[in-house]
Order: sequence, then structure tokens, then C-alpha cells
Amino acid sequence: MKKIKVMVVFGTRPEAIKMSPIVLELQKQLDSFEPIVVVSAQHREMLDQVLEIFKITPDYDLNIMSQNQTLSEITQKILAKMEEILEQEQPDIVLVHGDTTTAFSTALSSFYHKIPIGHVEAGLRTWDKYSPFPEEMNRQMIDTLSDLHFAPTVTSKENLLCENHTKNIYVTGNTAIDALNWTVRQDFHHDLLEKIDSENKIILMTMHRRENLGQPMRDVFEAIVKIVEEEPTVEIVFPVHLNPKIRQLANEIFGGCSRIHLIEPLDVIDFHNFASKSYLILTDSGGIQEEAPSLDIPVLVLRDTTERMEGIEAGALLLVGTDKEMVYQQIKELLQNKESYNKLASATNPYGDGTASKQILSIIKEYFSAL
Ligand code: UD1
Ligand code: UDP
Repeated sequence: MKKIKVMVVFGTRPEAIKMSPIVLELQKQLDSFEPIVVVSAQHREMLDQVLEIFKITPDYDLNIMSQNQTLSEITQKILAKMEEILEQEQPDIVLVHGDTTTAFSTALSSFYHKIPIGHVEAGLRTWDKYSPFPEEMNRQMIDTLSDLHFAPTVTSKENLLCENHTKNIYVTGNTAIDALNWTVRQDFHHDLLEKIDSENKIILMTMHRRENLGQPMRDVFEAIVKIVEEEPTVEIVFPVHLNPKIRQLANEIFGGCSRIHLIEPLDVIDFHNFASKSYLILTDSGGIQEEAPSLDIPVLVLRDTTERMEGIEAGALLLVGTDKEMVYQQIKELLQNKESYNKLASATNPYGDGTASKQILSIIKEYFSAL
């Protein structure tokens, strides 16, 4: 049988982490597939960190990142550059992931070239146009353009059915769990972990969403300073996103607090292992909401909405928003009330068993053999 030419396209850190397990699986099945890896480099350093860990060398690197880039700039550059690559390579299918502007622009370009699109992590929804922005509309538009929908959960499948996407929806689990099975190690060491008193409680935090930039982020940071001032055993570990707007604010508000460790973005092995050794995670990240329930670490979600309702329903995540007093109270509760803490920490992981990549490739094979 002819090999299926699968073009995998991604550009940001989370896409890279969740698409790498698929690329590695494709590389194991070269008798059936011809993989082509394209990176937009919407993120540069944070993408390269992931490529290095998974030892993936892209076939094409669009290298589009610029400081403080706008959504239109990202979209225009990818549309122009993907056109050339699609015309040259003529893949049988293009795989995109999630809700980034790389994923949306690539899906649009593939549609213009009438190339089938497989959407990994399809069907996530808040139904709120501006939250998260622009991700909610990116993923709705990608699902409209896609031919194969790889939904991580039954809830995401139901979301797709609500929008009348009735064909080719497959529930596979999330490839984040595939990656996690590969990264977490019992014998993990890190210089910063050695420095932190093992009796202290590590709170790992990340924050980067566009809708949280400015006042919401300032409010959260101030709540954290108050916690650290009142709780002598708390250590905050904050690998700061490379967005200059976030770094400036973090330095302004946290600079000089000895138990707030502002560090560079961790590579994914370090991050997953830090997460597994934390007492609590504070984040507005999407991917971390999927990973933490698998590690039995409670998460306070620093957003007003979430598309990861399965994690909320399973009791692993609490949606707290960005109000200063609310964030402060919820952290206090989990530091002081063991019962509330244990309830969150013991919830089950709703995002699959770590076989999503294998399932996705089997489905693609079946799809093409039936054509
Ligand atoms: C993007 C995605 C978001 C995802 C996030 C993951 C869109 C619209 N947003 O948002 O869905 O949750 O990635 O982190 O697709 N920068 C660097 N080096 C890097 C990465 C970023 O310097 O390796 C700086 C640049 O100045 C860049 C800025 O961060 O312009 C913002 O990056 P961008 O990809 O536009 O937005 P994110 O907020 O990272
Ligand atoms: N992550 C990482 N290093 C860090 C912070 C996060 O490797 O310093 C990983 C994390 O484990 C998750 C992904 O990056 O897999 C989430 O990326 P991000 O929060 O940037 O984006 P989102 O998931 O919100 O789109």
C-alpha cells in the first residue's frame, strides 16, 4: 500500500509538546507513513526547547516569531509560507493541534489547497468568543474546516455534535498524557529543588493568556505576594513566559522576594517533574490543566472560563478567576484545610491513558484505506 504522507504542523510550546508524541509514533511506523514536520516557530526559544528534548528536526522551519507580534502578523506570515510548502509537498493530510494562530492559519491554508485536515484536540469549547482570546474562535474555525476530529474526551465530542459536526469524530484521550508518561522520572534532580527546604510547600505557577495581561495579572501577582508574606513555608516557583509584557510585570512585583523564584521557562522534562513535586499549581495554562490531574496535584485555574470542564467535574481543578481576594482566599484554603486539599489531589484524570498518538495513527490508516 502507498505510504500516507502526513504533514504535522505546529509552532508554540504546547502544540510542540502535544504533537511530538505523534511525530515519534509516525517515525516508528515508516512502513505506513511518510511524515513531514513543519514548524512555524510562532515561538522560537520555547519551541526549540521542546524539539531538543524530543530530538525532532523539522523538515521546514518558517521562523516567523517577532517580539510582541500581533495576531494578524502571525496569520499573514503563515498563510504566505504554508502555501509554498503545501504546493511543493502535496501531503495526503495535514495535522494541526488545538487553538493557536499557527493551527488556525495552517488549517485555512490547507483548506485553500483542498488538503484534508486532522484536528488533534478537537472540540474544546467555552462558547465565549473572547475567552480565551483568540483561542475559542481559532478552534471553532479549525473544527469547521477539519475532516477528521480527534476529540480528547466524550465532552469534546459532544461539543462537536452540538455544532453539527457529525462525521469522523474519534475520542482518543489527550496526547498531553502520552508526553507525560515519557517525561516524569522517579530519580529527578534539579539545582533549584536542592536549594528549597524539603519541608516547604512548592507552589508552581504559570501565567500567560492574552486576556490576563495587565490588571488581572497584577491582581494575581499581588495576591501571591500577600500569601508569601503570611506563610513562611511557601516557596513560589514561577518559570516566566518569554512574553516581555509578562516578564516586566513579574520583575516589578516579585523582584526581591526570596521565596519567589522567577526562573526561565523550564524544559518539558523539568516542568513535568517540578509539577509532580509541587504542593499546588496556579495557572491560566490549558495544557497544565490536563497534566496536573494525572500527577494528583491540585490546580487553581486563574481564568474566568475553562474549556477543560472534565477536570473541574472530576474535582481536580478549581476555577478561581483573577480577583485578588478570591485568589488569596483559595490559596489559603488549600494551605490550611487538609480535607479540601485532599479532595482535589485525589480526583481522577479524565484525559486518557497515554495512547492517544497510537490511536490517532490507526484512525488515519483506516480512513485512507477506506477511501
Ligand atoms: C501563544 C498562543 C496561545 C498559547 C501560548 C502558549 C496564539 C494566539 N496564542 O500565546 O494559545 O496558549 O502561545 O504559550 O496562538 N516569545 C519569545 N520567545 C518564545 C515565545 C514567545 O520571545 O519562545 C515572546 C515574543 O515576544 C512573542 C510573545 O512572546 O511575540 C508572544 O508570543 P505569541 O505566540 O504571540 O503569544 P503567546 O501569548 O505565547
Ligand atoms: N511547560 C513547560 N515549561 C514551562 C511551563 C510549561 O514545558 O516552563 C509546559 C507544560 O507542561 C504544558 C505546556 O508547557 O505541557 C503548556 O504550555 P503553555 O502554558 O505555554 O500553553 P497552553 O497550554 O496554555 O496553550
